[in-house]
Amino acid sequence: MRNEYARDEKTNGLLEIRDLCKVFKGKAGDVVAVDGVSFTARKGEVVVIVGPSGSGKTTLLYLVGSLESPDAGEVKVFGEDICSSGADLIAYRRERVGFVFQFFNLVTALTALENVTLPMDLSAVPLEEQRRRALDLLERMGIDKRLQRTRANKMSGGEKQRVAIARALANDPDIILADEPTGNLDTATGRTVVDILVRLARDDGKCVLIVTHDESILEVADQAFHMVDGVLNGR
Ligand SMILES: Nc1ncnc2c1ncn2[C@@H]1O[C@H](COP(=O)(O)OP(=O)(O)O)[C@@H](O)[C@H]1O
Ligand SMILES: [Mg+2]
Repeated sequence: MRNEYARDEKTNGLLEIRDLCKVFKGKAGDVVAVDGVSFTARKGEVVVIVGPSGSGKTTLLYLVGSLESPDAGEVKVFGEDICSSGADLIAYRRERVGFVFQFFNLVTALTALENVTLPMDLSAVPLEEQRRRALDLLERMGIDKRLQRTRANKMSGGEKQRVAIARALANDPDIILADEPTGNLDTATGRTVVDILVRLARDDGKCVLIVTHDESILEVADQAFHMVDGVLNGR
């Protein structure tokens, strides 16, 4: 089923962002959060965008993940514009992109296993297969049998983020969008999490987009950008 999307050879990149703009209107005036951003990312690539707080990183990630809609510009995935009126945004959010957040955003009362099967709930995948798939993903993230059945609120930050990455992979998306994935972790744990994200690109061909204020993540980037006041600059 997923292979129906494997049309990348027809296009330049898996993800093509063109002249993307987002303006927030407020009483104190308009904020141009994302100001004419363009870049192209391919399968297996790690794209890192570094910028200070308020530079528009989260907004850009939300536009790519279709959690926000742009005021102008395009987000094309395998050549198809997800912002066009015919696009199936619900399917896109569920199946094509996986989010990883700074504060993990797990359901704290649920176990690791339940958190990972949650995004598969509405899919046609039989329950037993959902479970098997979730356990595989957790195993891969180094979450052992005991932790698989532990509630998220009992876990360390690093464990939570590894569960969150397993959850992001639940529906086998093409694109992983990570917003300050190391922001709430110590240096060593943060490095482990970045290594995992890099492996998803190298080994699984995911397109991994990381936005962060942590300059050290630039080291792993295939493409690196700085973002200032909504504008993306190459490095
Ligand atoms: N929902 C919103 N409503 C109004 N302004 C917003 C909203 N989201 C973000 N902004 C503004 O857009 C700018 C960029 O924010 P954001 O994308 O969160 O930056 P970053 O993630 O780099 O810190 C900031 O000035 C922020 O205050
Ligand atoms: Mg942010």
